[in-house]
Amino acid sequence: MMGRLVLAALSAVAVIGVTAAIADDDDDSSLTKRLMKDITEGKVKVEGDHAAVQELILKRNIPIPYSYVETLMRAPNAFGPGPACVVCHSSNDPAKSYRGLDLSTCDGIKAGSMEEPKHALFEAGKDPKKAILGRRLRNNRMPLGVQFNVPTDSKPIIAIRDWIKDGAKNDDNFKKNILKLFNTDNTFGEDTPACSQCHMSNQEPPSFHELNLTTYEGIMLGADSVAKGVDNATKVIIPGDPGASGVFQHLVEDRMPPGIAPTEDRDHPNTQILFQWVKQGAQCK
Ligand code: HEC
Ligand code: HEC
Repeated sequence: MMGRLVLAALSAVAVIGVTAAIADDDDDSSLTKRLMKDITEGKVKVEGDHAAVQELILKRNIPIPYSYVETLMRAPNAFGPGPACVVCHSSNDPAKSYRGLDLSTCDGIKAGSMEEPKHALFEAGKDPKKAILGRRLRNNRMPLGVQFNVPTDSKPIIAIRDWIKDGAKNDDNFKKNILKLFNTDNTFGEDTPACSQCHMSNQEPPSFHELNLTTYEGIMLGADSVAKGVDNATKVIIPGDPGASGVFQHLVEDRMPPGIAPTEDRDHPNTQILFQWVKQGAQCK
């Protein structure tokens, strides 16, 4: 509804011409006029490269056309240094394209991975930040800096997966075998720090996301318990469901494109625009 209004307004602007559109009267349906009014009233701050996207596109809910998403998928460095997504994900045939994921068409993006286990990358109309698409573009695999070529089915990762699957209990297995995996260097690859080097208490700094992986209570409490309050902390273990557990996701899901440095902006303006397209319903036009 909103989207159609804005679209109508945009075409009106195109016909009248921008200068005429800015002039005098209070036409609330004109995107440009509302922007100019907000600027006059000091409501718009455009400082730095994220601000234009935030202030002029996201806040005003401009409809993101699929043609832009198509360009992002085909362009190198679109979300940070690396080859274009379609180089590796261009067909739903798993023999030709990783995970049988076709990011070269709108239907392919919406269908998701066609290789078993098949799954969609997001739900149209919803924020994809926590869905597979959002995680693969924003989350760095842990321990931070671990290389792409390190296997995701190593013994320690499988042990953690099975502990979660079995209910994530504070039992003998946890005390003897699991807790130390979070607290020992080189557990998840050569020259990798222990999780506890960066997640050691509920204080940030020094503990990233206020996540404490040194005790059972800390692991079960989750992230950001001070910033959000204990009841709203982000759970990183969902007992019985490794796939939904942040700890397991962060051990096996590589950030895309492969090899991108963890220091690269996790909130790249193009990532924000792609998410906006999904939130607006992932329209193929
Ligand atoms: C150089 C090749 C390469 C490029 C470029 C690449 N990917 Fe991937 N992608 C892979 C591989 C290999 C996997 C499977 C292994 C893994 O999960 O890490 C994968 C997995 C994925 C998955 C997980 C699919 C699933 O079934 O859960 C998503 C989502 C994804 N890529 C999105 C992207 C996006 C978006 C881009 C562009 C920013 C991109 N990829 C660029 C190689 C690539
Ligand atoms: C060198 C520092 C470092 C190490 C080591 C490290 N992390 Fe992290 N961790 C981070 C940072 C920084 C973030 C913020 C998000 C990002 O970069 O993706 C983070 C985020 C997380 C999150 C997401 C929390 C949330 O808010 O949902 C989880 C879960 C996590 N790490 C688990 C682990 C596990 C498990 C290990 C060990 C295998 C580990 N981390 C090792 C730095 C580290």
